[in-house]
Amino acid sequence: MKNTNLKEQVDSRRTFAIISHPDAGKTTITEQLLLFGGAIRQAGTVKGKKTGNFAKSDWMEIEKQRGISVTSSVMQFDYQDKKVNILDTPGHEDFSEDTYRTLMAVDSAVMVIDSAKGIEAQTKKLFQVVKKRGIPIFTFINKLDRDGREPLDLLEELEELLDIESYPMNWPIGMGRGLEGLYDIYNERIEFYRPEQYGDQRFVKLDANGELSGDHALTENSLYHQVLEEVELLKEAGDTFDVEKIAKGNQTPVFFGSALTNFGVQTFLETFLKFAPAPHSNMTVDGELIRPDEEEFSGFVFKIQANMNPAHRDRIAFVRICSGTFERGMDVTLQRTGKKMKLNNVTQFMADARENIEQAVAGDIIGVYDTGNYQIGDTLTEGKLKINYEELPSFTPELFMKVTAKNVMKQKSFHKGIYQLVQEGAIQLYKTYLADEYILGAVGQLQFEVFQYRMMNEYNSEVIMTPLGHKIARWIDPKDLDERMSSSRNILAKDRFDQPLFLFENQFAERWFMEKYPQIELHKLM
Ligand code: G4P
Repeated sequence: MKNTNLKEQVDSRRTFAIISHPDAGKTTITEQLLLFGGAIRQAGTVKGKKTGNFAKSDWMEIEKQRGISVTSSVMQFDYQDKKVNILDTPGHEDFSEDTYRTLMAVDSAVMVIDSAKGIEAQTKKLFQVVKKRGIPIFTFINKLDRDGREPLDLLEELEELLDIESYPMNWPIGMGRGLEGLYDIYNERIEFYRPEQYGDQRFVKLDANGELSGDHALTENSLYHQVLEEVELLKEAGDTFDVEKIAKGNQTPVFFGSALTNFGVQTFLETFLKFAPAPHSNMTVDGELIRPDEEEFSGFVFKIQANMNPAHRDRIAFVRICSGTFERGMDVTLQRTGKKMKLNNVTQFMADARENIEQAVAGDIIGVYDTGNYQIGDTLTEGKLKINYEELPSFTPELFMKVTAKNVMKQKSFHKGIYQLVQEGAIQLYKTYLADEYILGAVGQLQFEVFQYRMMNEYNSEVIMTPLGHKIARWIDPKDLDERMSSSRNILAKDRFDQPLFLFENQFAERWFMEKYPQIELHKLM
C-alpha cells in the first residue's frame, strides 16, 4: 500500500544518540527526555538503581553487577509534533565499537559533559567519530547544581580539544548552591532555578536590551550583572549562531543545565528538536544517494542483540530504515545472500517495553526478530531495489586470546556460540592458518569477559581463554601471502572473511617484518 504521507512522516523524525564519558549524566538526561515524552512515568526506570526496576537496557547480569550499560538500546517517544528516536550507547570504552556502529544509524548527536570535569577521554574519542560523519552535534553541559568549572573555561576547552566552534544557547547564572538560573540567549528569557524565590514564574522574558525589566529581585544579585557582562562579551567576541555550520557539524550549540534536578532539560529538548535534522539521505557502496522519502523500503542492520529474553534464545537485528515505509508482513531481500525475508515479527522500543509494530518510516529504528540470518552491515530492500549501503566501521582489535572449549565433548555448542556472538559483532574471530586454532580479538578487555559469561550462560559452553601477548593485527593482500612469512615473531591467521593477517607482539616485531618484506603492504582496519 502506498504511503501518501511518507514525506511528512519522515520529516517529523528526529533520530539521535547521546554520547558521553561514563557518569556525565547520559542516563539521567535520557530519563528526563523520556519523562517529557510520556514514554516513562517515573525517573529511575531506565537505570533503575534507585527504584529497583531494571530496564531492558540493563538486560544482562554482568551489566547489573558492574553498573555499566554494555549494550545500546533504542527508545522512541512523541514530543510536540516530532517522533523522537533516542539511541542509547554504552559509555564504557571497551564497548566503543558498538557505540561507533550505533552512531552510523543517527542523524545527530548530543554530547553530555560534566561541568566539573569538562571534556573527558571518552567524550573526545566519540566526538571524533561524530565529527567524521559530519552530522550536527549538540552539547549539554550538565550538573550545574554542583560547583563546576567556569563556563568560559569549559567553552574554551571544548573548542580547543575538539576543534569545533561553540555557540552558547544559554548561560548559567551561578552554579552549585549559588545557582539562580539560566540566561537564555537564544530564547531571550531568564529561566529560574528556584522560581518560588522570584515570584513563581519559571520563565521571564527579557526586554529589548536583553535585561530584566523593572525591579525584578534578581537584578539585586551581583551574579546577574556579571552574567550580563559575560553575555555582552560573548555577543561581541564569540562566534555567531550559524545554522549551516551546525548542520555540517562545524558549530555546536551549547546548553547548560542539570539533568538530575530537571533544570534546563526541557529548554534543551525543545530547541534541539528545532535544529536537529530530519532523516538524511544514505550513500550506497556504488556512490548512489538514497533519499529517505523514496517509496521503496530499504535499511541496514547496525546492531544485533541476542537473548533479550533469556528464556527464548532469540536475537534482534536493529535496522535503521533509510527509505520508504516498513509494513508488518512485508517481503524484503537480504542483499548479501539474495534471500527473501518476511518481516513479521518486528518491534519498536519504549523505555520499559517492546511493542510489536505495524508501520515505521525512514529514520525509525526497528527490531527484526532474527533466527541467525542477519549480520551487522546487512542491507534489506523492498521490491526490485538492488543496493548495498556503505560498510560499517570495524576496529582493529588490540587484545587477543586463544579460546578453546573446556569440555571437548561440547564442540557443537562451542562453535554455535562463537559464531553467533561473532555475527553479533560482540567480538572478532580469527583462525590460525596452519592449525585452525581459534583466536578472539577485542578492543577492550570487558568484551572477553562478556563473551565468556555469555558462552556459559547462553550456550552452556565453558571456555578456556589464554591471553596472547600479541597486540598488533595487520592485514595483507591475499595475493601477497606466502606461508613462509610466518615465523616465531608473528602469528599468521585469517579473519572470518578468510582474509589473511599477521598478529605481531609489538612494534618491534612489526618493523622487523616490514624490513624483511619491504614489498608487502600491511593494513589496519580503523
Ligand atoms: P551516565 O549514564 O553518563 O554514566 O551517567 P548517569 O546518568 O548514570 O549519572 C551518573 C551520576 O551522576 C549519577 O549519580 C547521577 O545521579 C549523577 N547526575 C546526573 N546528572 C546530574 C546532575 O545534573 N547533577 C548532579 N548533582 N548529579 C547528576 P550516582 O550517585 O553515580 O548514581 P545514582 O545511584 O544516583 O544513580
